[in-house]
Amino acid sequence: MKELSVNHLLGIKYINEHDINLIFETADHFKEVINRPIKKVPSLQDITIANIFFENSTRTKLSFELAQKRLSADVINFAASQSSVTKGETLIDTVNNILSMKVDMVVMRHSSPGAAVFLSKNVKASIVNAGDGAHEHPTQALLDAYTIREKLGDVAGKKVVIVGDILHSRVALSNIYSLQKLGAEVKVCGPKTLLPKYIGELGVGVEPNLRKALEWCDVANMLRVQNERLDISYFPSTREYAMQYGVDKALLDSLQKEIVIMHPGPINRGVEITSDVADSKQSVILNQVENGVAIRMAVIYLLASKIK
Ligand code: CP
Repeated sequence: MKELSVNHLLGIKYINEHDINLIFETADHFKEVINRPIKKVPSLQDITIANIFFENSTRTKLSFELAQKRLSADVINFAASQSSVTKGETLIDTVNNILSMKVDMVVMRHSSPGAAVFLSKNVKASIVNAGDGAHEHPTQALLDAYTIREKLGDVAGKKVVIVGDILHSRVALSNIYSLQKLGAEVKVCGPKTLLPKYIGELGVGVEPNLRKALEWCDVANMLRVQNERLDISYFPSTREYAMQYGVDKALLDSLQKEIVIMHPGPINRGVEITSDVADSKQSVILNQVENGVAIRMAVIYLLASKIK
C-alpha cells in the first residue's frame, strides 16, 4: 500500500511531491464519497481524534470535524478558552491528559509558530497542524492546490500570484512550498512592508504592481488582511490598501484573460476583493471550502493508516 513519508502533518516543508499527490489521489476518492447520498465510510471506527483549537476558526475546525465524522472516527473538541489552559495548565500537560483518554491523533491550531513541531517532539500521538501562528497552514495549501488542479487540470506550469499580507500569512508560506513542489511558478504582490525580508530565499518573484501581477497569472490567491496580527500600521489606511491591492470587478473584467480568484477566508469584503468578485463565476472560494473536507479526510486517513 502507498503511504506518506511522515507520521505527522506539521507543514508542507516537511512533505514531498509524492506525499502531496498521494493525498490528492486519496482526496479524489473521498470527494466521490461525500457526494453520495450516504456520505460516510467506516474506515476509522477504531481511531479517536482530538481537535484542540487555541485560536478561532470556522472553516478549518468544522472541516476537520466533518472529515473525521465522515471517516467514522470518534471525535472530541477542545476550545482553549473554555478549558483549564485558562488556569495555567501547559500545552504538554493538556495534551498528555487528553491522550491518556486513549486518543490517537491531535489536530491543533495555535497562535505560536512552531507549536505543532514542538508538540510532535513531546507527546506520543500523530499531530496535524491546523495553523500555527504566521508559520504554516498545510491543509489550507493542500486544498488550494487541489482546487487549482481541479479547475485547471494540473498545478505544474501554472502561474499563481499570492496577493496581500505575505509577512503574517501561514497560508502564503504553505502555498509557496506546495505550489513549488508541484511545479507551479509563484509570485507575490503586496505592500513592501508586508513582504518578509527573506522572500528572495523562497524562490518566488515579487511583483509590486497588482495589475501587472494579475495580467501575468492564471490564478490570484487573495489573502486576508490579518488585522489581529498587525501590531503596527503597515499601510496608511484600509481604504488605500483596497485601492492599491484590492480586486474589484472592473479590474477583473479589464484583464485580457479569465483568471481564477481564490481566497482562504474569512474575507474582508471590499478590502481584498469586492463582493461582486467574491461571488463571481471566476471565484472558486466555496470550491476551496468543499475540497477542504475531502483533503482533510485524505490526510487523516493516510496518517491513521500509519498508527494502525
Ligand atoms: N482558512 C481558514 O483557516 O479559515 P478559518 O480561520 O475560519 O479556519
